[in-house]
Amino acid sequence: MRITDTSDLWWKNAVVYCLDVETFMDWNGDGTGDFPGLAQRVDHLSELGITCLWLMPFYPTADKDDGYDITDFYGVDPRLGTHGDVVELIRTCKDRGIRVIADLVVNHTSDRHPWFRSARASKDSPYRDFYVWRSDQPPDTSDQVVFPDQETSSWELDEKTGEWFLHRFYRHQPDLNVANPRVRDEIAKVMGFWLELGLSGFRVDAVPFLLETAGLSEAENEQFADPHEYLRDLRAFVGRRTGDGVLLGEVNLPHAEQSLFFGGTDGDELTMQFDFIGMQALYLSMAREDAAPLAKALQDRPSINPDCQWATFVRNHDELTLDKLSEDERQEVFAAFGPEESMQVFGRGLRRRLPPMLGGDPRRLRMVYSLLFSLPGTPVLFYGEEIGMGENLDVPGRMSVRTPMQWSSERNGGFSDAAPSRLAAPVVEGGFAPEFVNVADQRRDPQSLLQFVALLVRRYRECPELGWADFRVLDQPHAQVLAHCCTWGDGILVAVHNLGAESRTVPLVLDGCDASHQLVDLLEDQTTDVDAEGRAEIQLDGYGYRWLRVMAPGSRRLR
Ligand code: NOJ
Repeated sequence: MRITDTSDLWWKNAVVYCLDVETFMDWNGDGTGDFPGLAQRVDHLSELGITCLWLMPFYPTADKDDGYDITDFYGVDPRLGTHGDVVELIRTCKDRGIRVIADLVVNHTSDRHPWFRSARASKDSPYRDFYVWRSDQPPDTSDQVVFPDQETSSWELDEKTGEWFLHRFYRHQPDLNVANPRVRDEIAKVMGFWLELGLSGFRVDAVPFLLETAGLSEAENEQFADPHEYLRDLRAFVGRRTGDGVLLGEVNLPHAEQSLFFGGTDGDELTMQFDFIGMQALYLSMAREDAAPLAKALQDRPSINPDCQWATFVRNHDELTLDKLSEDERQEVFAAFGPEESMQVFGRGLRRRLPPMLGGDPRRLRMVYSLLFSLPGTPVLFYGEEIGMGENLDVPGRMSVRTPMQWSSERNGGFSDAAPSRLAAPVVEGGFAPEFVNVADQRRDPQSLLQFVALLVRRYRECPELGWADFRVLDQPHAQVLAHCCTWGDGILVAVHNLGAESRTVPLVLDGCDASHQLVDLLEDQTTDVDAEGRAEIQLDGYGYRWLRVMAPGSRRLR
């Protein structure tokens, strides 16, 4: 491949940033973030260096699941702005070299969506089969519910028509029936609408549930015999309409199953998928101070079509799910990072952000972000990670990490002029409050986390091998250390991370290298020599990290 290919397959080395308009920046002083506020802060994103903005749902909503319960797929929540504001934002982002994608939540609607209102009004409604109904008593599905704190079944009895409807999430989120061609047409129309307004694709919510055929009639099952064909159709549709639009899928399944959602080696389904397995292994590795679980997860990734990509992350807007770890492993992570019950949720995850989990240790925090940006894949940040925001455990459930962005030490963290009681969500209190953690201070401090993350973004972008290359774990003797190498053409990047608190010397042997090579540190101003046999010794502080570019004689890569 050539460097110019990085502009075609832009998602292979993008830096994605997720935010909720509602909690990012309030410009009209009503306590709720809005599109005009976000537009005012695009330059923060641009200075950070991100290349793709992922907007959480901004559509009209019943707001019982923070916008993931949509009442109009074509609308804009009036609290957040208008279609005009959305287009202005997309255009401003494009000017700064930032593409915009948005959540596509079509596994379900809100129960207040006009389709469902009509569907439940009568069995003869033209929208009845937009949803999945059953007339006989459903089986026990209590072990399948996604939100066990609120739900005990995936089926809810609708009194009026005496039938049950399927809802894989909350009972107020009835599942759409994608086996119905009319529903599929509607979904395509919705996607086409937003793509036409300038989106570069979608983060697709709950993909395995979307394709699920449970509850369908025999005829529907026959008609919808290969749900993956539908995913192929969606990808082809986005391709036809945009040329380079993406589908970034939420598929929290074992790697082997994720492979199917990429379309196997054909790579004609989801463009990208979050690596939930790698993320969970990262926390286990951190808890144990042992790189083995992470190394194994990365090595176990199935190979994917070169056009596809893994999206790496350390935190998202939901609970930090640990559902794919064993019970013992999960308890280890709980003990290390969220021992109190109030820090845990659904029995499977943590509702904390990373800095408080690490006791605010700046060395460890930087090591984790250095690791995130050096792992093979496309890194995804959740707003506020760049400044080390904490959570507010007084806010219930998963909302604890969705507090207002902290812009300054002023009232409400500079997020809004409204009275604190009117804010869309309360700000963080205590040691991670805006007084101590905010953008304005960190912009002026060359040693801040914000500047460090911006450096990581810059270096990641300068090293397309991280998004494109073959990845290899390098042998070395320390269990606490992950040394890996990404090779792409004449570009070789070696990254070494120490998950342990003690400093270490890491001996490496670099295949194909000799004394004519040099290791140039990309994060610090230093170089390391390689000997005639390709050996080099890397010094690492406790929780230390190094990014080393292997410079061959005559290499024209920038040092
Ligand atoms: C996954 C989203 O990430 C989550 O926030 C939401 O509650 C469910 N899907 C239901 O839409």
